Amino acid sequence: MSSLYDDSYYTAKKVDLDKRAIEILRENSWGDYTLPTKGLYPYQWNWDSMFVALGFSEIDLDRAWTEVESLFQGQWKNGMAAHIVFRKDSPTYFPGPKVWGGTHEVPTSGCSQPPVAATIVRDLYEKDPKLGKQRLTELFPRLMRWHRWFHTMRVISGGAAIAVTHPWESGRDNSPDWDDALAAVDPTGVTPYKRKDLGHVDAAMRPTDAEYDRYIKLVEYGRDCGWDHAHITREGPFAVADPGITFILMRADRDLQALAKYLDKESAVHEIDTWLYRSRIAADYLWNDEINAYAARNLRTGQHADGVSSVGFLSYYAGITKPKRDAKLQKTLSRILKAAPYSVPSFDPEHPKFDSRRYWRGPTWAIVNYLIARGLEEYGFEEKASRIRLDTRKVIQDSGFYEYFDPITGEGSGGNHFTWTAAIWLAWASPMTDGCQR
Ligand code: DGY
Repeated sequence: MSSLYDDSYYTAKKVDLDKRAIEILRENSWGDYTLPTKGLYPYQWNWDSMFVALGFSEIDLDRAWTEVESLFQGQWKNGMAAHIVFRKDSPTYFPGPKVWGGTHEVPTSGCSQPPVAATIVRDLYEKDPKLGKQRLTELFPRLMRWHRWFHTMRVISGGAAIAVTHPWESGRDNSPDWDDALAAVDPTGVTPYKRKDLGHVDAAMRPTDAEYDRYIKLVEYGRDCGWDHAHITREGPFAVADPGITFILMRADRDLQALAKYLDKESAVHEIDTWLYRSRIAADYLWNDEINAYAARNLRTGQHADGVSSVGFLSYYAGITKPKRDAKLQKTLSRILKAAPYSVPSFDPEHPKFDSRRYWRGPTWAIVNYLIARGLEEYGFEEKASRIRLDTRKVIQDSGFYEYFDPITGEGSGGNHFTWTAAIWLAWASPMTDGCQR
């Protein structure tokens, strides 16, 4: 009998899944941008779109660049690349552009999302520098302005870790990482609204109503202060240092610096040096010795999250290593991989707050797996990187291209025919990519 780790295990389904992944990218592609999935997410989402660009780069490099360019139509004058770019008002989603009340010429939301773009732009460029040179030259200043926005608008004086001021900014909406800070947000007086997400997905897989009231209240707070991001970070009702964005930005800074060198942008190289110089301070701030992992930290109270989120393992991807700390982190990762047959769970399966089906409180996400494994591989943890890749492959083979997966049973959850899952399949998880250098 073939086992999960034999090539023969996958042969039967291989061709169909590659074909289906391409179809999903094409079906969800609306001209120059791509929907995460129809119905549930009918617009362009920031980090979704960048993983989609990575997927497209396997089949159509020109279309991959277009995806990145279209995202930056939603970049504000202050540099922020918004988390949602609304092209038109869709009745299947709430909250739409009117609720956000932004003033940018293309309607957008008022917060950002994990900045994977520079890393993916570097991947695209290195695939074909000749094709990418002009496009990179135009995108580069936009990427610089966005990173600068994070390093100025989302850092509280003296700190270096990046804050999120809305759980949606982290991309990990209902992670237990936000529980304490979100509980302190008073939802009184929130404008009555009707959730649309529950018309698409089982409520047991989505955030609760109590969380939604606070999400909307935070949107109203930002809108009412005219999206003054410096004020929101300094004094708003919610500010938590996020290991996800902090590590993703560190990595993206390094990749942006490599791009600056390709373009001979010397002053940009120096500016990025000043960002990178502070990365160790950020990592020290996030390390939680009680749980042996990097963890979110409420910037209003200094309180650490008490559970392990999968994004805490992105330190390698970020380029952060410290031998004694890493030994502890590796032990934590081994424990979690052992507990979850379809790893990596977004939250520690041995923690009381773990919920195997509820969005970011337990399920496994292909995109996070890709980032974690990429970092682990770069630092020589090949066995774990390979385990994570094969788990991603198996869960997609067993369940299809779902938004996320139960880490214990492998069952698909959330939206189906999901573009970023298809993209990660094409770029990394499919047997077709075996032997490719990432
Ligand atoms: C949603 O609407 O669920 C999104 O995660 C917000 O970005």
